[in-house]
Amino acid sequence: MPFSLRAITRLRTLLGYRNWTKKEWIIAAAGFTIIVFAFALISNSRHTANKSELNHLFELNPGNEFVKITLSSKAKERGAFCLDGSLPGYHFQKGFGSGSENWLLHIEGGGWCDSVSTCAFRKGTRRGSTNYMEKGIPFQGILSSNPLQNPDFFNWNKVKIRYCDGASLTGHPENEIKNGSRLFFRGQLIWEALMDEILSIGMSRAKQAFLSGCSAGGLATLLHCDDFRELLPKDTDVKCLSDGGFFLDVKDITGNSTMRSFYQNVVQLHGSAKSLLKDCVAKMEPYKCFFPEEIIKNIKTPVFLVNPAYDFWQIQNVLVPGGSDSHGHWKNCRLNINACNGDQLDVLQGFRSSLLKAVSESQKRKEVGMFIDSCFSHCQTVSIETWHSPYSPRINNKSIAESVGDWYFNREEVKRIDCPFPCNPTCRNEDFTGI
Ligand SMILES: *[C@@H]1O[C@H](CO)[C@@H](O)[C@H](O)[C@H]1NC(C)=O
Ligand SMILES: *[C@@H]1O[C@H](CO)[C@@H](O)[C@H](O)[C@H]1NC(C)=O
Ligand SMILES: *[C@@H]1O[C@H](CO)[C@@H](O)[C@H](O)[C@H]1NC(C)=O
Repeated sequence: MPFSLRAITRLRTLLGYRNWTKKEWIIAAAGFTIIVFAFALISNSRHTANKSELNHLFELNPGNEFVKITLSSKAKERGAFCLDGSLPGYHFQKGFGSGSENWLLHIEGGGWCDSVSTCAFRKGTRRGSTNYMEKGIPFQGILSSNPLQNPDFFNWNKVKIRYCDGASLTGHPENEIKNGSRLFFRGQLIWEALMDEILSIGMSRAKQAFLSGCSAGGLATLLHCDDFRELLPKDTDVKCLSDGGFFLDVKDITGNSTMRSFYQNVVQLHGSAKSLLKDCVAKMEPYKCFFPEEIIKNIKTPVFLVNPAYDFWQIQNVLVPGGSDSHGHWKNCRLNINACNGDQLDVLQGFRSSLLKAVSESQKRKEVGMFIDSCFSHCQTVSIETWHSPYSPRINNKSIAESVGDWYFNREEVKRIDCPFPCNPTCRNEDFTGI
């Protein structure tokens, strides 16, 4: 990613933690434009975005799409609470024109908590409590209402579901610990309460409905995709999209099954088994049915997978988790794919092969779509640069937005699988060194 564009993304991420009014944002955006230009002038040695590139970016994102949070009105009576007992929330933007009877939902991500202590920590953050969440957020990428940024879904009704249960919307109250920790495991109830509410504000009359989510929200999307289908009328066109949600059951670089133990703990702590796909749980241990590889075999609704083959969250937490690299050999590579040596790249190519193997059966199914790029990124549908912009990653010259649209509207079958790193010059590879 050109230096300045990355700076903008960072600033946006940093700013996202504060509650800013629309006016503050416009002022800040103008201020940062100046700062970014100053940087662009100073750092001539790197590839920097030129003035027209930047203008174009701001044109695509005029900063006028702040959508405020709504706390669920149906949650209290249903006992659907975030980890800390606060009411769950969502952001709703009404559709218009030809999109007024279509609904796009996006479930926020944010990892999981697998123990009393990590959940207790989480409940004091925006990952476990609406009390700490931003009151308004920008709708970008697949959520944007700008046709230049979001050609196929810009005028749909859009809902961003906030994530606050710590288990991809699968917790059950029977598993709450009754000894004073005061943690609520109500993910399943949150899902049900929010669906009830969104159906009541118009989704029950949807012509087309699209459930999406990123990271832990991408996993929640896969887990609830068939339930979502069931909630809607038979003649509604229903599909699902999981972005950066295909977490692999692979060993880390020391040979430990880190992710498997982690998911075992999550499923056990939150009592998630009752929310997993019945056909899967009938055949194997519940934690296995928390892995997309098994979930996708059982999903009946059409699904699209957007997933980088070198998803940085997975590289940093599944393949090379903290503690697995005691000698620090991977210190730079896990933060920046361009810093990996030959041996490390071999390991990363192995990780990519595991992903391709895990999706190979689904790849044969006509209704499944894929965009597996060879980038070092994560959550590519909700960022202005990666979803659909002059800087978005492309496979066969198609952006992610174009690929998803081609599949959703049956314009063509879409199974776009990139050649291995470093072959794709359109990648926006993240670089975490120096953060
Ligand atoms: C219950 O509380 C005790 C003491 O605070 C703690 O040691 C124990 O781990 C808690 N039980 C569970 C299941 O976490
Ligand atoms: C591997 O996993 C075991 C069991 O969870 C743990 O005790 C050990 O410290 C781990 N090893 C490394 C290198 O992380
Ligand atoms: C790639 O697509 C763009 C439009 O999306 C088009 O202008 C351009 O010519 C295409 N490039 C190639 C090499 O096909």
